[in-house]
Amino acid sequence: MNPDSVQSEGLQAIADAPDTAALEQVRIALLGRKAPLVLALRELGSLAPEERGPRGKVLNQVRQSLEAALDARESELEAAELDDRLRRDRIDVTLPGARVERGFAHLIEQTGREILEVLVGLGYRISDGPEVDTVYRNFDALNHAPTHPTRQATDTYYIDEHTVLRTHTSPMQIRTMQSQPPPVYMATMGRCYRRDTPDATHTAMFTQIEGLAVDRGLSLAHLKGTLLAFAREMFGADREVRLRPHFFPFTEPSVEVDVSCFNCARDGSPCRVCKGEGWVEVLGAGMVDPALFGFVEGYDPELWTGYAWGMGVERIAALRHAVPDIRWLWENDLRLMEQFG
Ligand code: PHE
Repeated sequence: MNPDSVQSEGLQAIADAPDTAALEQVRIALLGRKAPLVLALRELGSLAPEERGPRGKVLNQVRQSLEAALDARESELEAAELDDRLRRDRIDVTLPGARVERGFAHLIEQTGREILEVLVGLGYRISDGPEVDTVYRNFDALNHAPTHPTRQATDTYYIDEHTVLRTHTSPMQIRTMQSQPPPVYMATMGRCYRRDTPDATHTAMFTQIEGLAVDRGLSLAHLKGTLLAFAREMFGADREVRLRPHFFPFTEPSVEVDVSCFNCARDGSPCRVCKGEGWVEVLGAGMVDPALFGFVEGYDPELWTGYAWGMGVERIAALRHAVPDIRWLWENDLRLMEQFG
């Protein structure tokens, strides 16, 4: 074994090692248990004493120089590999992240919330009520005669003899008066159900917003003022409302309420929304029939009067956005829905 060539070839191999894994192989070849240098060192003991000193000195110098070169090369390679990894793994935290699509409320919900907000601004308190209610609250206490046609099973979904899917939000008038003394300013939104054949203006499930006010001295003028405020918020500041006589079992007098057409004003062409009438029907309303106070406690008809109204949220939404068929609002076609996001 020639120490000089072991040293020079070893140093060369160390310098040539391209990475730390290769360098480890070089370390084993040069200084591992079976390396010529290591074997030579182990054999020193068997040499004659006068040869042992000089030979040992030379071999140890070679070992030390190889060890030093291995350590130096190792630090060099580790630093290079770290640099390389940092360069490759670098993350630019200032780049925009993957976009998360945000959802939004359905047009029916959006419209309903907007209406409720107007009513809250007028001092109404929001109540929530069940979609399944009693025949008593849905019909009897709302002054429907026992023979009233909408009670029929062809019009109304019955759960059992005494229980229905509510056909309107008006049972909330009764619930509210059952649960609190006057005065009352209550608004509620919720689903209602009727056995209607679906068409452009009817669906078997729909959404109503009901309002009820009971106080001293309320008149039709207060109702009209309230609905005018609502109409101007929802359909534009120039709107007017008009009341036409109608009939509901639970209001007297009863009215249908029209809003002056907001679409005619937009362009001069024949109007699709009001069909040239200049007015669009938006809801039913009236003065609370004093007979209702007889179905609840604490409402003396000599002291209190009230008004109420109910409107279809789908209808309001469809009118405002010129959606020609309210069934479309229930089809969840994203091409339509996303226009309201
Ligand atoms: N409940 C009536 C309907 O379903 C609307 C209404 C509510 C009318 C309150 C008068 C007062 O159409």
